[in-house]
Amino acid sequence: MKHIAIVNGPNLNLLGTREPEIYGEQSFEDYFEGLGARWSGLVLTHFQSNVEGEIINELQALENSGRCDGIVLNAAAYTHTSIAIADTLKAIKTPVVLVHISNVFAREAERKTDLMVASAKGLICGMGLQGYDLAIRALMS
Ligand code: DQA
Repeated sequence: MKHIAIVNGPNLNLLGTREPEIYGEQSFEDYFEGLGARWSGLVLTHFQSNVEGEIINELQALENSGRCDGIVLNAAAYTHTSIAIADTLKAIKTPVVLVHISNVFAREAERKTDLMVASAKGLICGMGLQGYDLAIRALMS
């Protein structure tokens, strides 16, 4: 069975209550339950952290496991600032598809900087939570 890992960054534990006009009203746990059912032929895991180093440790652990076939990463605000996470993406070989729930290119200027995208297979942006489903599809194709 293939293993796809979702890694979510800071404040994504607050989905459902956080700025619902931008991110919607569904919690990630709730969405993830449906996603798992839809992709029942996969080992689908979810990790979330508000801490930069923990995200780096998780990405390295997934790479070192030798068992992860793809990573769906929403680095949240770290997308725009973290050279450290960008370096991790450069160091690992596991394919990574980036997701942003909102269309960051239609928002504030600082959200248009993406330090991750150069090392990713691709980016899905502005499609709401279904972006995670689309990213899995992209990794499986
Ligand atoms: C986000 C967009 C980021 O700019 C923001 O900091 C987030 C969420 C998104 O999924 O739309 O926390 O990554």
